[in-house]
Amino acid sequence: MPKLLMGLISALLASLVALAIPQVLRVLINDTLHAGGATTAVWISAGIVLVLGVAEAGLVALRRFFVINPATTVETRMRVSLYDHLQDLTVSFHDRWGSGQLLSRAMSDLNFLRRWMAFGAIMLVVTSLTVIIGIAVMFAMSWQLALIFLAAAVPIMINAFRFRTRFSKVARLSQDQAGDLATTVEESVHGIRVLKAFGRSREALESFNEQAEELRQTEILKAKHLATFTMVVTLLPELALGAGLVTGVLLVADGSLSIGALVAFFATAAVIATPVEFCGMLLSMALTAKTAVDRHFEVMDSVNTITSPENPGRPRELRGALCFNNATFAFDDVPDKPILKDINLEVRPGETMALVGITGSGKSALLQLVPRLYDVTDGSVTIDGVDLREFDVGELRRVVAVAFEDTTLFSNSVRDNVLLGAPEPSEAALDEALDVAQAHFAYSLPEGVDTLIGEEGLSLSGGQRQRIALARAIAAKPRVLVLDDPLSALDVNTEELVEARLREVLTETTTLIVAHRPSTVALADRVALLEEGRITAVGTHSELLAANPHYRYVIASLETEPRDLDSELSDLDDDAEEAIR
Ligand SMILES: Nc1ncnc2c1ncn2[C@@H]1O[C@H](COP(=O)(O)OP(=O)(O)OP(=O)(O)O)[C@@H](O)[C@H]1O
Ligand SMILES: [Mg+2]
Repeated sequence: MPKLLMGLISALLASLVALAIPQVLRVLINDTLHAGGATTAVWISAGIVLVLGVAEAGLVALRRFFVINPATTVETRMRVSLYDHLQDLTVSFHDRWGSGQLLSRAMSDLNFLRRWMAFGAIMLVVTSLTVIIGIAVMFAMSWQLALIFLAAAVPIMINAFRFRTRFSKVARLSQDQAGDLATTVEESVHGIRVLKAFGRSREALESFNEQAEELRQTEILKAKHLATFTMVVTLLPELALGAGLVTGVLLVADGSLSIGALVAFFATAAVIATPVEFCGMLLSMALTAKTAVDRHFEVMDSVNTITSPENPGRPRELRGALCFNNATFAFDDVPDKPILKDINLEVRPGETMALVGITGSGKSALLQLVPRLYDVTDGSVTIDGVDLREFDVGELRRVVAVAFEDTTLFSNSVRDNVLLGAPEPSEAALDEALDVAQAHFAYSLPEGVDTLIGEEGLSLSGGQRQRIALARAIAAKPRVLVLDDPLSALDVNTEELVEARLREVLTETTTLIVAHRPSTVALADRVALLEEGRITAVGTHSELLAANPHYRYVIASLETEPRDLDSELSDLDDDAEEAIR
């Protein structure tokens, strides 16, 4: 802040120096440029003008020097706090917001804000002050001439006001459209395989083109508003200059104004002409910066509703009993259509419970309640009798580990991906987790477990990704493990091996596992049947098979479910490779 102030002062001094030059000219013309004037005085005046000019240039450089550091610091701080806040916000916030909107807020909006702080804001203050001081000086020299110039200022102000309302609307539109455009880029880069495979690249390009064209039109509209305003701002002072020149010459002829004062008057007018013309640009910059700030705080002001309570509770002894009590849940965007209704389910400590149901019945939604990615809308979920909402969120997420359907890996080494949530990251923990998940292929990657995988690293097959994600959940050594169909992409042999190892390590861990295959169901002690958001039966596999027709129907449909052939094939490749070694 003090540096910003120094920058402001430098800028102010620079324009004061610029305003002083015409005064030297006045003295020069009035006192020396007449017959018999001393030549040395001319040299001295010229010298002063030169020194003032150099000083002005120096002060402008000084302004830049002072301002660059604080402006970039503020930009970086705002960016970091935005990122921090995004990490903190709930999953339902991210359901609602396009990634491009967040991207453009984090990058271009803040970049703009920096330029505004380093240049725009200071220049706006300085420009306004220069114009005010300049006009005062002009009044001091000749009030008649100054009045003519002031008359031009009234229409400029009216115009500025109209410009303001129009421009800020378009500025907002353009920034939002830029965000949507970023979302489209992000999505199509992400989905490039699908677009290519379906031969939809051309259509994607066309719709992108349309979006880009929309943005271009908005930008043109923005430029038009700015152009109209700039025209008024430039034209009116020029007209005033013409009128002023005629009046000025008449006044000099009349003897009521000295030639020196006339020259100085117009020199001053020339000095403030640039700032006046600048007004339009600075005003538009101010409005865009304001929009950027608004957009920033739209995100910053969204509150995280999933937070730790002030006095977090914890079970006296952590055993891992997971209990749903009349739990009801609806997504934010369809609050009156609950996805889960009155769920009552108890998973005992160390028990493995399979969750079975047809697609869309709400299995994944139910699992996401456990690490509190979403909160129940009614009822409660407890671990060892303590409501999840009473846990410290960080603690809860150490107790619970998850592997989701869509396996997300980070651009990091295999090691870092697997040990992401491990309480004590060690080589032994890594090896054990990889072994349980049957992810031995990781050792034969080009650089072993240090191979970079994920978006910017080596691409893995679907089955390989799933196994790394499973290893990540196991390495977290949770009390409560939540697995969303973690074996769906594995071939039968690998699945059997994983299951055998899982059965060994899961004896201590309470596990809730979504099963899409009878073989996964067999892993479980008991099975819960989910039907349109309700638990309709709980029991062992054979009990349900004997007593429940819907269960028989679901199991029968699971058995014929098509496999993910692609990942199976690539898994076979791995195994073949391993066999050759
Ligand atoms: N973020 C969301 N916002 C709104 N509705 C959602 C959201 N995610 C899922 N749904 C809806 O919730 C319902 C249950 O979805 P869920 O993913 O829990 O099904 P599922 O049982 O896991 O299905 P599958 O076996 O195909 O994985 C679906 O009708 C789905 O459309
Ligand atoms: Mg699901």
